[in-house]
Amino acid sequence: MTQKHLDIDDDQVHILVVDDEDPIQRLVKQILDSAGFQTRTASNGREALKYLKEASFDVVISDIVMPKMTGIELTKKIVANYSADVILMTGEIARYHYGKMIGIGASDFVQKPFSPEEIILRTKRVIRERRLKETQISFHNKLALAQKMEAMGQLSAGLAHEINTPIQYINDNTLFLKDTFSDMDLIIEKFLHLFQTLKTGSIDTSMVKQIETALDQLDLDYTRREIPQAIDQAIEGIDRIKKVIQTMKVFSHPGKKNHVLTDVHHCLQNAIMISKNEWKHIADVSINMEPDLPKIKCNPGEINQVFLNLIVNASHAISEKTNTQFGDKGKIEIRAHTKKNWLEISISDTGTGIPETVKPKVFDPFFTTKEPGKGTGQGLAISRSIVKDRHHGKISIETCEGKGTTFIIELPIHQN
Ligand SMILES: Nc1ncnc2c1ncn2[C@@H]1O[C@H](COP(=O)(O)OP(=O)(O)OP(=O)(O)O)[C@@H](O)[C@H]1O
Ligand SMILES: [Mg+2]
Repeated sequence: MTQKHLDIDDDQVHILVVDDEDPIQRLVKQILDSAGFQTRTASNGREALKYLKEASFDVVISDIVMPKMTGIELTKKIVANYSADVILMTGEIARYHYGKMIGIGASDFVQKPFSPEEIILRTKRVIRERRLKETQISFHNKLALAQKMEAMGQLSAGLAHEINTPIQYINDNTLFLKDTFSDMDLIIEKFLHLFQTLKTGSIDTSMVKQIETALDQLDLDYTRREIPQAIDQAIEGIDRIKKVIQTMKVFSHPGKKNHVLTDVHHCLQNAIMISKNEWKHIADVSINMEPDLPKIKCNPGEINQVFLNLIVNASHAISEKTNTQFGDKGKIEIRAHTKKNWLEISISDTGTGIPETVKPKVFDPFFTTKEPGKGTGQGLAISRSIVKDRHHGKISIETCEGKGTTFIIELPIHQN
């Protein structure tokens, strides 16, 4: 990332100076005003908190020794309730004071007597760090949003397809049932009529003839065989749609911090299903699980995202190697088993493999060997961060050029 040079003069900087001694208060204000900052003064902690409530300040520069509320107490309140940075001023400074000041959340300190240059330099340094942090947070948020949009874009095409196919046959089958029912209804009506005449002891032979012809036209054997099948297929289609919708729900909360007891087998099935459009002409996917795999505490949305990235990568690697145009297919094998206190999940493919020169770079953000539009180089970077940083797990690669690749994820079974 190229970092924009941060010039703190870009924005107005608001500073609150807190000191019970009037001359010091005025001196600090004068120095800061001359450096172009917007400065306000307060004579004690309470007054400072009142100003902080009314307006937003970037930095509070406060004396430590003040009557009623000390600078330390004031700092604790600011750190807990406001976003301002605090620089503390003090006369006697022992080494342990510095640690204590930083420990309670102060950003820096100035020793009295101070030179104007020192106070300006320290203030500027604190502001620069503050701006840098703000830029990083906003960059991170934008990146996360872009990634989500991109992933959603790719997924929605696949999802639309996954929903469209069952809807197609639910529609066809329902139309078939509608047509067949109206034909059968006519025959039922004739039967009822025949039944009425039978009750009076006579037989309407013309009606018997009509029923015979109608039954021939309807092909009753075929209809009786087809109707239950059509109903079963429609129910199955509705189930498929229900599953896709459940999966979408899981994927729509990837940002949730909560870790919940999760069935990893279920996550893998979700990821396989949601990515079906990517691999179905390219590979056969098999899943091999240890029976009674324990549930683990994790964020299912994030873990789903990792599996999805790895399956899509595997499919891309196979399609690069295999001539799928002629119907050749590769293999994606997914395994999961326990290993002491770890759950090990591996995703293997029969794709291109990763060259030794490329392998060290694959987890780097934005590293991709794919053409523009096909890869952004974020899948593995995000996956590693989810596995390592958010789940205290491990992710590793075994690969052989020309033969294939296995990604291995290890997740702790017992996590706090
Ligand atoms: N299973 C695999 N087989 C071969 N190469 C792989 C495999 N998985 C990843 N790679 C290599 O690692 C690179 C980085 O993968 P990553 O998932 O981070 O990004 P991407 O797939 O290129 O793009 P994105 O996932 O953002 O759409 C890929 O471009 C590819 O070169
Ligand atoms: Mg990828």
